[in-house]
Amino acid sequence: MRPSWLTPGQVALVLAGAGAVVALLSACASFDGTVAAPPHVEGATFVGNAACADCHTNLTSVFPASAHGRYHRDDLRFAGATGCESCHGPGSKHIAAAGAREFIVNPGKDPTACFACHLEIQAEFHLPQRHPVLEGRMHCSQCHDPHGPDIAQPAGGLAMARLNETCAGCHREQTRPFVFEHEAMREGCTSCHQPHGSISSKLLVQRDANLCLKCHAQTPQGNGVWIGKVDHTQLLRLGSCWSAGCHTAVHGSSVHPKLLY
Ligand code: HEC
Ligand code: HEC
Ligand code: HEC
Ligand code: HEC
Ligand code: HEC
Ligand code: HEC
Ligand code: HEC
Repeated sequence: MRPSWLTPGQVALVLAGAGAVVALLSACASFDGTVAAPPHVEGATFVGNAACADCHTNLTSVFPASAHGRYHRDDLRFAGATGCESCHGPGSKHIAAAGAREFIVNPGKDPTACFACHLEIQAEFHLPQRHPVLEGRMHCSQCHDPHGPDIAQPAGGLAMARLNETCAGCHREQTRPFVFEHEAMREGCTSCHQPHGSISSKLLVQRDANLCLKCHAQTPQGNGVWIGKVDHTQLLRLGSCWSAGCHTAVHGSSVHPKLLY
């Protein structure tokens, strides 16, 4: 029998049974998602993380440090809401069959399991500009480690380096070494780009000069506006800093210190 997703009727049933869990999770003030039903595996029951440890020690040992693990309690009643099985579905039949793949859900290529709790993220992937996750061309787990410490977690410079590295895996041109580096890159790609989706083209956080002005102060001098040591009064009327044919090398330049090209 193949695992399948719950029908709406079954969802209602699981939700009713998971009332205590919903209360537990809604106590986490920073989490505005809705806890819904875990993936369904026909005829299987929840066994808890400890049962997975026998064969997947590498994952159960890193899991407590993950964003999801922090909310987990070693209590069978919460297995389907915060544990391994909240993403993989109940594991009893998988274990009874010595790890048979047909009795466990692998959400690697299908974000449905994630959207059960992260509804607001689902909305971001419906914005006009977006990473093609819903289109099936890439997956949440190419940017997020579902089991270990996550890139979205601030951990000093280390997490930032890992963040850019993750993007570099697919975007070589913007992440190669440059002779004239743009220091903004040290604050991470997300200082200018929305990682999931955006209303602005190129997933930009802001579509106009404000994107740059949040770090580069404009100083009024006389009737003009100066940025750095250059009078930008006329220049700012030409368009955004990068599209007006000025700082086209926003990610860094190999030829020009002012990132002109
Ligand atoms: C008795 C050992 C054993 C236990 C216990 C076990 N697994 Fe597995 N699991 C395996 C084996 C072996 C595979 C690899 C199957 C294969 O490659 O065909 C596997 C594969 C998986 C996969 C990948 C399936 C896929 O389609 O790629 C997931 C997800 C998984 N296990 C989750 C769990 C979870 C969650 C638990 C605890 C509820 C668990 N496992 C407990 C042995 C086990
Ligand atoms: C937040 C959801 C989530 C939770 C919680 C979760 N997993 Fe996974 N798991 C995934 C995703 C997504 C993949 C696919 C990863 C990929 O394709 O790179 C995966 C893949 C796997 C695999 C097969 C691939 C591999 O990396 O070996 C196993 C086995 C597995 N998980 C076991 C577990 C165990 C054991 C736990 C609990 C300690 C757990 N998972 C908790 C989402 C989750
Ligand atoms: C059972 C509910 C549930 C499921 C299913 C789930 N999450 Fe989460 N997720 C949470 C909760 C709760 C948090 C913690 C929120 C917080 O810290 O504010 C969280 C946090 C996160 C974070 C933030 C990490 C950080 O460091 O701040 C990421 C990224 C994430 N989840 C990705 C995923 C992905 C990818 C999947 C699917 C593979 C998934 N989640 C499935 C409940 C879930
Ligand atoms: C292109 C890489 C990428 C993909 C693909 C991606 N994310 Fe993210 N996600 C990020 C980055 C980077 C952050 C951190 C954003 C920040 O700190 O400003 C993040 C933050 C998050 C957060 C926590 C912060 C928040 O906005 O609430 C959650 C939850 C999350 N992602 C879930 C998901 C889920 C679920 C998927 C798949 C449907 C997914 N992400 C796909 C890169 C990605
Ligand atoms: C797994 C590969 C992958 C990863 C990792 C990845 N991207 Fe992407 N990115 C894509 C794909 C595919 C597209 C869509 C390109 C298209 O439609 O032609 C895209 C599009 C973009 C675009 C818009 C480009 C345009 O022409 O509109 C930006 C900006 C971007 N990604 C930034 C990032 C950032 C920042 C990160 C890290 C947080 C990241 N990407 C991680 C694959 C990836
Ligand atoms: C200082 C702000 C800034 C930072 C930081 C930044 N970008 Fe960009 N990025 C831009 C702007 C502005 C554009 C639009 C350029 C254009 O339209 O010509 C862009 C465009 C892109 C594109 C689309 C390129 C194309 O030719 O269509 C990708 C992909 C991209 N950025 C990836 C990244 C990655 C990956 C990182 C981190 C390593 C990053 N960016 C960091 C500002 C930034
Ligand atoms: C996250 C902050 C941040 C953002 C956003 C940002 N920059 Fe920068 N930028 C810096 C820092 C820091 C430096 C190095 C210090 C300096 O010269 O001000 C720098 C340097 C520069 C330089 C070289 C200046 C010189 O005199 O050597 C140019 C040109 C530049 N940025 C253009 C842009 C443009 C265009 C944008 C918008 C697409 C932008 N910056 C967005 C932080 C940022």
